[in-house]
Amino acid sequence: MHTDTSPTLLITGGAGFIGSHLATELLQHGYGVRILDNLAPQVHGPDRQRPGHLDRRAEVFVGDIRDPHRLREALEGIDAVIHLAAVVGERSSMYRIEKYMSVNTTGTAVLLEALLDHPVERLIVASSSAVYGEGLYCSYNGTVYPKIRRSPGQTVKGDWEPRSPDGEVIYPLPTPETKEASPLSVYAVSKYDQEEMCRLIGDSYGIPTTILRLFSVYGPHQGYANPYSGMLTEYVSRLLQNLPVRLFEDGYQQRDFVSVHDAVRAFRLALESPGAAGGTFNIGSGRPYTFRTIANLLATITRRQHLSPVVTGTGRIGAIRHCIAEIGRAREVLGYDPAVTLEAGLLDLAAWVEAEIAQRQKVPAPLKIPTPSRLHV
Ligand SMILES: NC(=O)c1ccc[n+]([C@@H]2O[C@H](COP(=O)([O-])OP(=O)(O)OC[C@H]3O[C@@H](n4cnc5c(N)ncnc54)[C@H](O)[C@@H]3O)[C@@H](O)[C@H]2O)c1
Repeated sequence: MHTDTSPTLLITGGAGFIGSHLATELLQHGYGVRILDNLAPQVHGPDRQRPGHLDRRAEVFVGDIRDPHRLREALEGIDAVIHLAAVVGERSSMYRIEKYMSVNTTGTAVLLEALLDHPVERLIVASSSAVYGEGLYCSYNGTVYPKIRRSPGQTVKGDWEPRSPDGEVIYPLPTPETKEASPLSVYAVSKYDQEEMCRLIGDSYGIPTTILRLFSVYGPHQGYANPYSGMLTEYVSRLLQNLPVRLFEDGYQQRDFVSVHDAVRAFRLALESPGAAGGTFNIGSGRPYTFRTIANLLATITRRQHLSPVVTGTGRIGAIRHCIAEIGRAREVLGYDPAVTLEAGLLDLAAWVEAEIAQRQKVPAPLKIPTPSRLHV
């Protein structure tokens, strides 16, 4: 982005988990920040208050992304838009279908129509690794499988690992942006809709557009009020209440967990990198972990090693077995270099959840989980 004065950015959904960290990151780097957010009760609780942790310097417009009049007001004086507003979570999207398509797909359509009257220098869209469905796989003999889906019959038998059409077990590979999209949930369909519409309208009307496919982002401020997101927040919360973590399937599903501090740096780099326009980038840590590993690490951090995870042995509709990130393109084009280790990131999360629980219970006891000193690198 090139403007003579400090650019002002609109973050849709900026009062949420990622948005709150992104606002601080951008303000610290000299940008003006305005937020458009409807303070959805699912995320912000029934009182729908501006979150206390949201940077005071951020201007907040309360409004729905689907309201064209409010959007036009929010776009006044804006140089670039970062589009985060969405209903998130894959599980509930499989029965709240209309809600996901309305906010995520129609909401993005309304935003794009407003941008036709108010062109901006850059549009950055938060997409998701969910658009891949299952990640990339290969067999022992090196055959690559770009579009795999487990059959319900297979998972009902507790046979969790994806198989080739010949029935052979196959293994996850880092998934590059070139892998075909293959959404397995309504949420994923809506995120892919967002991508496709933004690319198309961006190309057609000369709005430089960048898509960031975020993998599993975690950290403070995540999903405390939201029962459908923030899996790691739920793990910590259970452990601190002396309840074991519950793992679906056998707990060996692999994901790429990326600290929110790294994720928001990726947004800023996408805004500032000349080569980012027109691109789609995976944003992860580049290191896969199983849910079991994460659960055990969190048990150690919270000093609940005696609470072994409970493996439920049950699957869920639309669940993905493995999806791990290839982040070479983001490294090369954006100069993205994830800096928060898993251990430091989980400590950061656990310290926040502990403080939240203490505050809710109004317990003045000193907190036991130390906050890592070098997270903001
Ligand atoms: N958290 C992750 O791991 C993750 C992973 C991949 C992609 N993403 C994407 O990143 C973005 C932000 O996710 P998050 O984890 O911060 O979610 P979040 O739920 O914490 O934040 C979403 C924000 O959008 C707002 N919102 C919801 N409906 C709205 C509407 N109709 N109008 C205006 N605002 C509305 C909510 O009030 C909330 O503040 C989303 O687009 C999500 O799909 C997140």
